[in-house]
Amino acid sequence: MAMGLFGSPRLFLACSIAVLLFGSCLAAFNDEFTKVWTPEHVVPDDASNGVKLMLTEVAGAQFATINSYLYGSFSIKLKLIAGESAGTVCSFYLTSYGANHDEIDFEFLGNETGQPYVLHTNVFANGVGSREQRIFLWFDPTADFHTYSVVWNHKQITWLVDDTPIRIYKNIESVLPNSYPTKQPQVVAMSIFDASTWATRGGAVPAKWEHAPFEVNYRDFSFQACKVLNNDVNSCTRNYEGNWWESAENQSLNPTRASQLKNVHQNYMVYDYCTDRTRYPTAPVECSYNSL
Ligand SMILES: *[C@@H]1O[C@H](CO)[C@@H](O)[C@H](O)[C@H]1NC(C)=O
Ligand SMILES: *[C@@H]1O[C@H](CO)[C@@H](O)[C@H](O)[C@H]1NC(C)=O
Repeated sequence: MAMGLFGSPRLFLACSIAVLLFGSCLAAFNDEFTKVWTPEHVVPDDASNGVKLMLTEVAGAQFATINSYLYGSFSIKLKLIAGESAGTVCSFYLTSYGANHDEIDFEFLGNETGQPYVLHTNVFANGVGSREQRIFLWFDPTADFHTYSVVWNHKQITWLVDDTPIRIYKNIESVLPNSYPTKQPQVVAMSIFDASTWATRGGAVPAKWEHAPFEVNYRDFSFQACKVLNNDVNSCTRNYEGNWWESAENQSLNPTRASQLKNVHQNYMVYDYCTDRTRYPTAPVECSYNSL
């Protein structure tokens, strides 16, 4: 079977669909991505059709898409740092540039050998974030590749882990203006960095550099999304109904997915800004819309 650098058959299929939808799929690293920090720590890997990122005491690393998108479905596979990973963070996120930026995050907070990773999510709209949630995962994310995805449409953002929803965030612009990413194109970025001062048990455990380089592996990038060309955001905000990620099914959770989300929140939640009464004496307005 002929396979290009990143072209598994599944991804070529995703590609042909996405192209019709003005989306994107990965053909080769250099066609799709740019190395943002520390090029020598961003290592495209032919054998796994993926990309390895490295963190040393000197530098982390980041790569990001060349194109930017406004709404879509964004999915990757990721295998986190095995063994010692305290003080490190690996990320997969969407972000716009400039003041008042929008951002949709997955951040994986490392831990000491044998202790669990934490998955941290957040969403920024118009420069305002502070909407953190943290969960434990129900599997060991360092043993194998797992799928992490975000579906972002005009009505809702859904974060998924192996197709199980772990968080939703509704568009309530009509109630709370500037609270949803609606008009800024975002790139998709992946990074690894030193977060010794905050990541593990609130910064109690800094990175142990004798274990460096810390290595994380990404692969199977699938971005089926509305690509913004020539900064023309109208092409993605108008006439969008035909895009599958805008479908009714993606605008709210069906009963099965709703009960999966409830189960995650009941059994794996570590932190939820919506219930942090020290920070927020009353819950932020959006919280009631995003709880089930
Ligand atoms: C690391 O492990 C400790 C002990 O199990 C746990 O309390 C903590 O939430 C874990 N994760 C992080 C990022 O601190
Ligand atoms: C989004 O919709 C597609 C079909 O249009 C469906 O297969 C998929 O499960 C939906 N995803 C979510 C997160 O609801």
